[in-house]
Amino acid sequence: MVKPFIIGTRNAGQFLHAGAKILREGGSALDAVEAATRLVELNPNDTSVGLAGIPNILGVQEMDATIMCGKTRNSGAVGALKGFKHPISVARKVLDEAPHVLLVGAGAERFARIMGCEEGDLETELSKKVYQAFIDDAFDDEGVIDESQNWVVKYARSQNLREWFDKLADEHHGTVNIMALDANGDIASAVSTSGTALKFPGRLGDSPIIGAGNYCDNRYGAAACTGRGELAIRNSTARTIIHYLENGLNPEEAAFLAMKDIHDLNGVGGMNCIVLDNKGNTISATTTPERDSVYWYFDVDMTEAEQRSGINVQK
Ligand code: GLY
Repeated sequence: MVKPFIIGTRNAGQFLHAGAKILREGGSALDAVEAATRLVELNPNDTSVGLAGIPNILGVQEMDATIMCGKTRNSGAVGALKGFKHPISVARKVLDEAPHVLLVGAGAERFARIMGCEEGDLETELSKKVYQAFIDDAFDDEGVIDESQNWVVKYARSQNLREWFDKLADEHHGTVNIMALDANGDIASAVSTSGTALKFPGRLGDSPIIGAGNYCDNRYGAAACTGRGELAIRNSTARTIIHYLENGLNPEEAAFLAMKDIHDLNGVGGMNCIVLDNKGNTISATTTPERDSVYWYFDVDMTEAEQRSGINVQK
């Protein structure tokens, strides 16, 4: 039997203990990944997830999250969710209670309210400051962006702004991926993010798309992504990694091929993934040349998370 464990991305290390505790007490992988993700969502210093998340181009925070159960492949996802403290728990409610997999925008918020999910303002002094600095940098003396200034056209058509956006998205991305295997051999995976910095309102990345940014299946393993979500959507990256596991590759080989697939798109931006299989093998990978790939591992016999190295996949 594989010892229960939980893994997470770079920004999850100090919060995996919450999931490890649940696993140690015999709890489910699903509860473990939700609990650890909730703590990341409360971290005021992480401007890529939950509280203090970088807003969209209009200064509004829109959150995306998914949670998936590898035993049943039941999934819950929310996109462009505003005003709730724990997007991952709204996604969990979708998994547990809704006859749907993915709810977005006002519908997701209505559902969350009905389910009694905790509402909250995720804006902080830091997120406001970061947003204003971006706007000042991008628009110089063009002034404050508002709905009346036809900013969408400027944003979409101006080559300068597109370049500015691409640079920004590369420099200021982030998402949390957490996945676990419990004592029953069940696997679960969770993803939460405020999405790419200064995105168009209504933009969904890979994180709320089951198969793109998150996928798990007890028979093989789990995979989740961070980075430029548009790339993982185009390749169905998380599901593809599971497909590679299904075909006999180990997590490192599967992650390597999936990152090669990303390079093959010749798209803008980088992609990263973390992967586990149902034998307890784990890995992370990145396509970004100058970036070290690392992830955190915490099994039920450990007292703190251990940082592990992943692979850097060149074009
Ligand atoms: N990978 C997160 C996003 O693109 O929104």
